[in-house]
Order: sequence, then structure tokens, then C-alpha cells
Amino acid sequence: MPILDVRNLKLHYSTERGLVHAVDDVSFSIKEGEALGIVGESGCGKTSIAISIMRLLPRNVAVYSGSVSFDGGEMMQLPAEEFRSSIRWKKIAMVFQGAMNSLNPVLRAGLQVAEPLIANGTGKSEAERRTRELLHLVGLPTEVFSRFPHELSGGMKQRVVIAMSLIMNPKLLILDEPTSALDVSIQAQIMNLLKKLKRELKLSTLFITHDIALASDICDRFAVLYAGQIIESGDADHILLAPEHPYTQKLLSSTPRLRSEYKPDFISGAPPDLMTPPVGCRFHPRCPYVFEPCKTDPPTYSLSELQESRCWLHLNHQ
Ligand SMILES: Nc1ncnc2c1ncn2[C@@H]1O[C@H](COP(=O)(O)OP(=O)(O)OP(=O)(O)O)[C@@H](O)[C@H]1O
Ligand SMILES: [Mg+2]
Repeated sequence: MPILDVRNLKLHYSTERGLVHAVDDVSFSIKEGEALGIVGESGCGKTSIAISIMRLLPRNVAVYSGSVSFDGGEMMQLPAEEFRSSIRWKKIAMVFQGAMNSLNPVLRAGLQVAEPLIANGTGKSEAERRTRELLHLVGLPTEVFSRFPHELSGGMKQRVVIAMSLIMNPKLLILDEPTSALDVSIQAQIMNLLKKLKRELKLSTLFITHDIALASDICDRFAVLYAGQIIESGDADHILLAPEHPYTQKLLSSTPRLRSEYKPDFISGAPPDLMTPPVGCRFHPRCPYVFEPCKTDPPTYSLSELQESRCWLHLNHQ
């Protein structure tokens, strides 16, 4: 049984100009201890998927539907108060995009990490002991406990934010672009930390990023998102070495590599406006292989036990 199973998830926002189809019929699952990477260009709906699972929605949501099952229980029907008191942060936690820049500037780092424990009734000294243990686990020296955010480097702040997400011992951790605000060398250190946490805490992880090369380090499987829809998914090796969907192929060939003669390709055109997404396959206006059927919605083809792709090119695949 997967720890997280998301079926036909939709999240649409209402705006003055019309409906934004940010998440449009998205399904995926994560097994216990597994890391799933959701990758895609800016604006394709990655954060919208995360906030749908956390049930932290903005006011202008027009459509929020589908099924989110966690550890066997359906979350969408759970009363808001029950979800807040027993699931969010305790079972499913999240590191928000850019969170290290929204630490409370006037509160010492250790207290920010300990706060949820204290709010849930743990005594102050026990909360402090657990926080110090956690700071150590995320690779921070113990004096960080009493420092203010402005006294910490970017990498240290990101470690604090990761510690905050782990303080209630969640089973599933959602990481939304956890390294994109950091230098390349610090990114590598944070990736190593995340791999260690996944291994040692047996954490199940949803890793959201626009950088598939970076995510390949930690992810067991990938789901590739384009314009609010998953267009390909599968185990990491297949997606990285033998991508089947033209968009995934383009995404990978536009990823720069060090020390190679290879010049990165680029994807012509711009991602679609999610207010009026293209009819049929959403990638067809930019696809080099476009042909007649692409004007209708392609089915998702299971190409093997390990790989699925939503593209008419697989029409003759048995
Ligand atoms: N509250 C909102 N109201 C209206 N539109 C929104 C809202 N939040 C996000 N959007 C739009 O929904 C789409 C998906 O946004 P989302 O933030 O989920 O993308 P993303 O993949 O996380 O992007 P990035 O990589 O830049 O973080 C975008 O077109 C965005 O402009
Ligand atoms: Mg985002």
C-alpha cells in the first residue's frame, strides 16, 4: 500500500481574467520510504500540488477535487479541524519554497524549531532537548539554537527550516524547491543532508523541483509535470536515460552538463497560459513531432511496469 496516493487531483484558481487550471487531473503515488520527484518548468503547478496535499489553499480556489489518500485514509473528506490537529505537520510536513527567507527575524532559531512541540504540550526543557538533537541531526552546531536568523548563513537557515519540518516526526515530507535559493556548493551539501535524512529516518519524500539533474540524486521515481498535467512518470533511471515523452526528452536535453562538448538544447515557444491551455496534448504547439491526433487528449500509455507516458506517439505500443 502506498503511503500517499493522489487520484484525479484538480486545483483551479479564480481570477478576474478567468479560471487558472493549475492542477488538472493529476494522479501519482509514493511508496513508504520512497522519494518521488515532481519536475517541470516554472508555473506548471508544482507548488499547487503541494498545497493541495497540505490543504493550505488560498481564498480564490474555485475547484478543489479528487482523492488524496494518506496511509490508507482518505484526506479530502476529513474535517478541516481533524486534518489540522492530527495530520498536517504531524504526519505530513512541508518545507515551503523560499521558507528560509521567512524565518521570524526576532525569534531565536532553536525556539522556532521547538515551537510546534511546545504548542502541542511538550514541556520546555524536553522540547529544547529534542530540538538540540534535531539541530545536530541536520548538521548544525549546537550554538545555532540561540542565534537569530540574521546570524546564520543561507545554508544554515535552510537546515533550520528542514529541522522545523521534522520536529513532529512526520512520515511524509514535501520539499518544494529546497535548494533553489542556494549556491551550487551549498545545494550539494543540502542534497547530501536530505539523502541522509531519507535513509536514517526512512522518510517518504515528495521532492518538487525544476532541476531534474539535481533531483536525480535523491529521487527513486519521477513524475514530469507540464501545464498542470503529468505527462510522463516512471522510475528515475528510465526517465533520465530513456525518456519517452517529447517534452521530457526536451527537458533533459536542455539541462546543461559540465565538462562536455554538448551544447544544451532549448524548448522553443513558451509554456502555455493555464487560463486557456491548448486543446488536446498541452505540449503539442511546442512539440517537434506534432501530428494530427495531438489535437485530442492523449491517453496515458503504460510502456512498461516502470514507465507511463501521455503521448499519441505510443499509439502502436502494445
Ligand atoms: N492564488 C493564485 N491565484 C491565481 N493563480 C495562481 C495562484 N497561485 C498560483 N497561480 C497560478 O497557477 C499556476 C501554477 O502555479 P504554481 O505556483 O503551482 O507553479 P510552480 O510550478 O510551483 O511554479 P514555480 O516553479 O515558479 O514555483 C501559475 O500559472 C500561477 O501563476
Ligand atoms: Mg512553486
